[in-house]
Amino acid sequence: MYFQKIRHPSNFRFADAHAEGALSIAGQTLATRIRDLGEDVFHVELQDTQRWPLDARLVRMHDDAFSGTSRHRLAFDAQGVLSLSNAQGECVLSGVGDASLGVCGSAWLVQWHRDADTRFYGQGDKVTGLEKTGKRTKFWNLDVWGDHPMHSVSEGVVDPRYAAIPYLLVRQGDNWIGILVDHPGSVFMDTGSNWFFTGRDDHNAPPAFWFGADEGVPAFYLIAGDSAADVTRRLQRLVGTTPLPPLWSLGHHQCRWGYRGPRDLEALDESFRAYEFPCDGLWLDIDYMDNYKVFTTSPQFFGDVSAEIGALEAKGRRVVPILDPGVKVEEGYAVAASGLAADIFCKNPEGKPYVGFVWPGRTWMPDFSLEAGRSWWAEHVKRFRESGFHGAWIDMNDPSVGAAEVDDMRFQNGQWPHWTYHNLYATGMAQATHEGFLKARPDERPFLVSRSAAAGSSRWAAVWTGDNFSNWHHLRMTLHCTLNLALSGIPFNGPDVPGFGGHADRELAIAWYKAGMLFPFLRNHSLIGTTQQEPWAFGADAMQVIRHFVRLRYKLLPYLYQLWIAQARDGSAVMRPLFHDFDNHDGLVLDYIDDQFLVGPAIMQAPLVHQGEQRREVALPGAADGHTRWMDAGDGSFLQAGRSIQVTSGAQATPLYLREGQILPMQTGERLSQENDLTDIELHLILGRGCTQAATLAYAADDGASFGYRRGERSQCRIRAWRDGDTLHVDVDEVHTGWKPLRLRVVGYDGAHTAVITTPVGRSTQALTPYRWTCSGGPLAAAMGDVVEV
Ligand code: GLC
Repeated sequence: MYFQKIRHPSNFRFADAHAEGALSIAGQTLATRIRDLGEDVFHVELQDTQRWPLDARLVRMHDDAFSGTSRHRLAFDAQGVLSLSNAQGECVLSGVGDASLGVCGSAWLVQWHRDADTRFYGQGDKVTGLEKTGKRTKFWNLDVWGDHPMHSVSEGVVDPRYAAIPYLLVRQGDNWIGILVDHPGSVFMDTGSNWFFTGRDDHNAPPAFWFGADEGVPAFYLIAGDSAADVTRRLQRLVGTTPLPPLWSLGHHQCRWGYRGPRDLEALDESFRAYEFPCDGLWLDIDYMDNYKVFTTSPQFFGDVSAEIGALEAKGRRVVPILDPGVKVEEGYAVAASGLAADIFCKNPEGKPYVGFVWPGRTWMPDFSLEAGRSWWAEHVKRFRESGFHGAWIDMNDPSVGAAEVDDMRFQNGQWPHWTYHNLYATGMAQATHEGFLKARPDERPFLVSRSAAAGSSRWAAVWTGDNFSNWHHLRMTLHCTLNLALSGIPFNGPDVPGFGGHADRELAIAWYKAGMLFPFLRNHSLIGTTQQEPWAFGADAMQVIRHFVRLRYKLLPYLYQLWIAQARDGSAVMRPLFHDFDNHDGLVLDYIDDQFLVGPAIMQAPLVHQGEQRREVALPGAADGHTRWMDAGDGSFLQAGRSIQVTSGAQATPLYLREGQILPMQTGERLSQENDLTDIELHLILGRGCTQAATLAYAADDGASFGYRRGERSQCRIRAWRDGDTLHVDVDEVHTGWKPLRLRVVGYDGAHTAVITTPVGRSTQALTPYRWTCSGGPLAAAMGDVVEV
């Protein structure tokens, strides 16, 4: 497959008329169906069983997630041109006249107008920049190191990568439109690329963008809205929100290709404890298995698996091993024999089990497209969980098969060609693994991390963004990769920190931890044979800086947890670009800012991502009313938004800002271990002197592990706070104690010295006492009140 070339409209025949639900293309008719799903979400589908005999969409989106009427209208005109108009009847997105919807054999294509102000985002994990104008791309899952030249991987930009999420978030003036291609196979898109061989993006290319696929039923969703946030929430509901993760998965994780069994993990446990460095997850790469055979453990490195994992669990650690889908072809290997007996391996065109090459050598690949294939896998996963392992890291599921041609790998008992399930293979593996965990522990939230992904896969697994490099180029790319994944419906993701391949040095390790400390997923992982990169491997002073920011992550877990509750409930993004929450104002253009980001509504980071850099420009975005201020987490000063500032950041610091008018729930004191208590918290009120806005927070705490919260085992309350002079007023109501009582302490800034706290049981006035703590760099002069229990 060529990755740099896609089908071109010049070779398509386009519809020239539309009447009574049918398009006419040079005399042939194609049935069209536009469904208004409600809430301005539409689905378009073409039907022609001769051209597209196979509907291979095995992973369905949530079409029924929406209700109510739409303000927008999507329709074909009599000439067969599709367009989207708003409530006022104004065209928001218009198909290209004479060339809106076309076919070329079994291929199909949809083409739209764009103009100089059109912006594009999304497209999953592609590292082709935050904004995507001028890109020509395919969506076809790959093993990046296996399928691209290594120097392009380490120093350049390769595409495609591990995830296939054919989604574009389009901005047209004040309108935002999400387009999700509803297709399981290879989708292509062009957002105004150069058509010639000049090797550069030509932004003067014809004013159109298009997408389509080589074969398979033409179908796509359109989501219309007036902000990136609003469209992203509905995209997430459409593909399925991310279930509330277990709290431990939001902590720090330590991994390395080379950790082999309990002895290595015990040594890590001791070091993390000795350094008072919080760490939840200890991970095992392929060497923990017997000859890389999935669902085995190496007799050399393991004794009594349950007892050994149990001992680590008793010390507060969770053990997450890798699971690769390839099953070693070997006589006498029970897993292989049971797969053969169940007849669940993918078949080649000759009806034999397809053979690929993964770590154990020749391997058979489970067919996750089959219900029976998923159940077979889930049974093995059930035993894997029962033996003690806490989560699973599912890898090589792009699928990666070494030198073998993937096209010979067929699905559905050999009946379906490879394209039908290639991009969904990892999703099927995630579904089956998730099912296995639930079979073993029905009341425990599973935690899976996958390399490969597709639209909707976040229902079952988080994503780590694959094999990156320990260099500054990869550090920078990781920011926009994670942001676009979040906009594309995969909010729970993050990179290997501080890079997988190559050798991290002290400066990079510190910079990467500072930048990544609040990424949704935070795991230190590295390639065997590279420099050790455990947090203490770069010297004592580096360890202290890294540790400070990991402890800060733990301190912020109550805040981060609320973001995941919101994600599960309504699809709200967790880590997001500035334009997600703010419009362009006061000359601040946010469209291309790819080195700053928000974590929820209250935190903004502007990390230093260039070697040797201690100084940078920071945009302070604000709302149109001119009232936004940001508290500099380094010194507690309140900064007026609507401008850019120059910032110098010291060795102990990272540019970090807390939004005024927000309440950040945090754990108490400095976090020296991974033990958490979501019920015992500080409420940091970011209300500077003269602030006239009120801050609100709906806070919820539960056991962080089970599904008890779905049965009401959760304590929650609503907090409203405002400032009057140097007095903070805090109202706590809507208290529901479905779990443990909540212990709250008010923390104020900028000279606040008194708090008047009103709860359902009464009102108290507290004199706040000085509380110095370090968020980023220097100590902050804050003031804290007494515990109030509700
Ligand atoms: C793949 C994974 C990497 C892992 C290695 C060995 O390259 O992406 O994270 O360490 O396989 O399992």
